Amino acid sequence: MAEPQVPDAKACVIVIFGGSGDLTRRKVVPALYGLAHEGLLPDHTVVLGFGRTDFTDEAYRRHLRESVADFSRVSPFDEGAWRGLADRVFYQRGEYGDAASVQALHRRVEELDARFGVGGGRMIYLAIPPQLTPGLLEAMDGVGLIRRRLREQETEAGYIRVVMEKPFGVDLASARSLNVALEQKLEESQIFRMDHYLAKETVQNIIVLRFANAIFEPIWNYRHVKRVRVTVAETIGVENRAHYFDNTGALRDVMQNHVLQLLSLFTMEPPASLSPDSIRDEKAKLLRCLRPAQGEDLACSIVRGQYGPGTIGGSAVPGYREEGGVPPDSATETFVALRTYIDNWRWAGVPFYLTTGKRLAERTTEIAIEFREVPHVLFGAMRDVQLETNLLRIRVQPDEGVSLRICTKVPGLRMEIRAAEMDFPYGSVFSAASPEAYERLLLDVMGGNATLFARRDEIELAWLFVEPILAHWATEPPPAFPDYSAGSWGPIHGDDFFREDVCYARVPLRGLTADGDDSEQ
Ligand code: BG6
Repeated sequence: MAEPQVPDAKACVIVIFGGSGDLTRRKVVPALYGLAHEGLLPDHTVVLGFGRTDFTDEAYRRHLRESVADFSRVSPFDEGAWRGLADRVFYQRGEYGDAASVQALHRRVEELDARFGVGGGRMIYLAIPPQLTPGLLEAMDGVGLIRRRLREQETEAGYIRVVMEKPFGVDLASARSLNVALEQKLEESQIFRMDHYLAKETVQNIIVLRFANAIFEPIWNYRHVKRVRVTVAETIGVENRAHYFDNTGALRDVMQNHVLQLLSLFTMEPPASLSPDSIRDEKAKLLRCLRPAQGEDLACSIVRGQYGPGTIGGSAVPGYREEGGVPPDSATETFVALRTYIDNWRWAGVPFYLTTGKRLAERTTEIAIEFREVPHVLFGAMRDVQLETNLLRIRVQPDEGVSLRICTKVPGLRMEIRAAEMDFPYGSVFSAASPEAYERLLLDVMGGNATLFARRDEIELAWLFVEPILAHWATEPPPAFPDYSAGSWGPIHGDDFFREDVCYARVPLRGLTADGDDSEQ
């Protein structure tokens, strides 16, 4: 039997721009430590953080150690794995736009490569605001820290791969110019655009569920599917990212990337193979068929919201406008819900309901596919019988799993029918803990596998979809914000939302309630 596939990762110097930032200490370094703990981090890998803060190498390691202990999934703390990694962690202070800083950085990279026998591999990790990227690419290219390199050239010279964190632009034009800047210096195969949702275990399982089982594909279409909903609901607010979030909003922050990526994997055509480009070709094809809102739909099929004060987990939390760093009159949306369609043969006429929001009643990311009613209701004549439709739910997080709602007879002498759940919970079926998304992604970069990264066309197509909404909002005065209580399900949900025949602009929105609204989603 063939071995299960583990990416063939090769050592490199990982240069992290934004090395003193939040993402590095919360996600990137804990993931490297997680890989070291699993014995999956290639020997000779070296990490070099770059940022404006002043750190010595030792102070930098101490700073990271605290975060690793706080944010890593590895528990108890594996001192051996940390020491092994920390001995190869370094820091360089500098300015992003300054050629001399980048030159000095390059020298340090070469020196570390020689000292630790890395072998020429480079991972350039850009955890910085996107507007800094073009200048930095220019400077790196100028000193030779990056070079255009075809796949065939990598074996001898080592690879050079650039990882881009989101946000990938703020609109279509800025995403395009970022892509142009990248492609002037690098091959597409050297560019890894992060969307950490793609590396979540349950998201990877979508492909397996759909294409390794015979029963789903035949019914995965408009003939059998009534509607689909994709929900990314969070209980957290903006935390310490007010500046970023207030200039971004929920549509750009989560809908344009995570939600559309989930949607495209779930609805794409079967790919020709599992190669990165086969899968990305299908996702891009799907995104091309998403119907952009226009005319009346801009008001009728989209709702934006912003949370006011409320209660989460029994504790009072402030409204968005009262969060530190948020302007008291901010018009930024923290919630967006929309109804759309995929204009292709498979999904003709099936409504898709997409929602994302912060400070909602529960943290849940889920895709739910609801099947059509049975064609002939044999049980229709029975009193009190209302058959529920079949509902397949993919719970991405937390409580990862898959469940199917079926109708079943209640045991007893009378014919009574009730809905029951067939449930597959990851946690109790498999004992192994799921790796963090960032662990998988970093390993894939070191192995040169871009399947779980977004390609240029996907990013631009996703912007093409959200752009009319952004343009519409820019001309329309924002609704009376705040319009939902923290701890509720947002200004619209449930029956009001999952209907094809309503114009959301005419549905009375739920508004603020005294202490949230914990009714069922
Ligand atoms: C990020 C967004 O991309 O995803 C955040 O910028 C959001 O605002 C986060 O909170 C959600 O990720 P996860 O993995 O916690 O669901």
